[in-house]
Amino acid sequence: MTDKTANTMWGGRFAAGPDAIMEAINASIGFDQRMAAQDIAGSRAHAAMLGAVGIISPNDADTIREGLLTVLSEIEGGTFQFSTALEDIHMNVEARLKEVIGEPAGRLHTGRSRNDQVATDFKLWVRDQFDAAESGLLALIDALLAQAEAGADWVMPGFTHLQTAQPVTWGHHMMAYVEMLGRDLSRVRDARARMNESPLGAAALAGTSFPIDRDMTAQALGFDRPAANSLDAVSDRDFALEFLGVASICAMHLSRFAEELVIWSSAQFRFVTLSDRFSTGSSIMPQKKNPDAAELIRAKVGRIMGANVGLMMVMKGLPLAYSKDMQEDKEQVFDAADNWMLALAAMEGMVRDMTANRESLAAAAGAGFSTATDLADWLVRVLGMPFRDAHHVTGSLVAMAEAKGCDLPDLTLSDMQSVHGDITNAVFDVLGVQNSVNSRMSYGGTAPAQVRAQAERWRELLK
Ligand code: ARG
Repeated sequence: MTDKTANTMWGGRFAAGPDAIMEAINASIGFDQRMAAQDIAGSRAHAAMLGAVGIISPNDADTIREGLLTVLSEIEGGTFQFSTALEDIHMNVEARLKEVIGEPAGRLHTGRSRNDQVATDFKLWVRDQFDAAESGLLALIDALLAQAEAGADWVMPGFTHLQTAQPVTWGHHMMAYVEMLGRDLSRVRDARARMNESPLGAAALAGTSFPIDRDMTAQALGFDRPAANSLDAVSDRDFALEFLGVASICAMHLSRFAEELVIWSSAQFRFVTLSDRFSTGSSIMPQKKNPDAAELIRAKVGRIMGANVGLMMVMKGLPLAYSKDMQEDKEQVFDAADNWMLALAAMEGMVRDMTANRESLAAAAGAGFSTATDLADWLVRVLGMPFRDAHHVTGSLVAMAEAKGCDLPDLTLSDMQSVHGDITNAVFDVLGVQNSVNSRMSYGGTAPAQVRAQAERWRELLK
């Protein structure tokens, strides 16, 4: 037991202050000070409303609003003394406001509670992060589009099972990530629109008997409307969970791309060269250039998804309305947001800086009998064979090339005819990788013309 006096903000019924351990487990000021600007914006909107509807005098409202700006500048200037005894950002700000403006500060908390206050602050903070994610995604998509446009017709191997499958174009591969990140972008926008309801004025849980104007505060804070149920408003953290869900899926996409960059930049592949700006060296092996940024991006999904699962576990089983468990919502979201933004920015930088090695890509594109499907399709199209039979004939030709240690285009016409007598010289037209990709003109296919059309569509969409 400490001999400290009871909390000045809520300690009316308490004879003694908290144990030091109680203070340590209870306080959130160590991390929720990140929401200072949002807390002050919320309080300024609330004070303006209290003044406008006559719950407090217009004079007091003005004094409070001015005082809050002073507090904000102290926090931003780094001179503010945060106190653990005052628990959280809400009470730290209000206590300091009292020191700055005196008695009117005590009227600010009329018709509200820390429960709607923290929900409002956190929503405003997460909303800003949705906006930051949108910018980060747009920048990364732009970098990918630039790569796709430059290399719309560069051939490379396409893989399934990480085994050579069919030739594709560099631009097509880049555009695959544009599609993924485009879905992330639309998830960000969806979730942001859904979360944009104001909890402020829900008060502790039941609303308030004061004649507050919730539309006014909602509007002042850029919300579309006030949340319609006060119990839900103070106990909802769906917006944070959706944020983490969207972030997790996006981080998974970034992780897949990062993995490809790690593979592609290896000496065995040499598909891309990452810039020095996004690589590191080894302290012992002088030849090394390591794709650390890609590796770290590959890993970020772990902590971001961890935050998603973590907050879900915090929320599950909580009875309505507010419970202190919910204070555990912030650190994980802060960490996930920081790392998501960092991963987006690092990936954008890497993509802008990286060089695709056209020769290595082209050399690899033809390896592994990558045009075998083109050969089978030719047998179907020109000789009228059922695809299953064509598949079988092509398989025999692949086996023959493998035995001879050559690629499919290196077989002679008589080699071909020894497997099927009707094959003509025209077959060699489809065995080249450039012809192979050019022929894949189906909508969404890898043909350069399709890739350019898709890149144009995205440029148009993002205008
Ligand atoms: N620091 C608290 C949190 O982050 C603020 C809300 C506290 N409300 C309460 N009734 N104790 O959730």
